[in-house]
Amino acid sequence: PWSAERAAAIIKDFQGVDGATLPILHDIQHAFGFVPDAAIPMIAEALNLSRAEVFGTVTFYHEFRRELPGRHVLKLCQAEACQSNGSDALRERAEKRLGVKLGETTPDRRVTIEPIYCLGLCANGPSAQLDDRMVGRVTEAKLDALLSEAQS
Ligand code: FES
Repeated sequence: PWSAERAAAIIKDFQGVDGATLPILHDIQHAFGFVPDAAIPMIAEALNLSRAEVFGTVTFYHEFRRELPGRHVLKLCQAEACQSNGSDALRERAEKRLGVKLGETTPDRRVTIEPIYCLGLCANGPSAQLDDRMVGRVTEAKLDALLSEAQS
């Protein structure tokens, strides 16, 4: 759960460090699973930035989440190489099966599906990542297995 004290401790670790916005945001997301709105003014104040600047950074980078994710996060690569290997059809299949769009969480909060822009597995695309596990050459059958695992 969100804790202002914990966020303050993370921010304090980077006091006086140049270019601290991204590392702070990463650590905040790691601690809470997302970047809570309440952290933004705290970061802005500590780094002498405007709230809009910090907010702009959070929304610019796809890896930052603004809401608590589900128990499992399935990332589907949407970058070019995977697109030419059929990632669109996989995205549609996942969205249909879960009944949510990319970037959303199922109502039971078990699974979040997110876009990712290259996992470095382009030669083995289409690629995906379930929690910490990268998966290449994702077929419909493999996707179904990943979705079942995430939903269980
Ligand atoms: Fe999908 Fe690189 S484009 S892994």
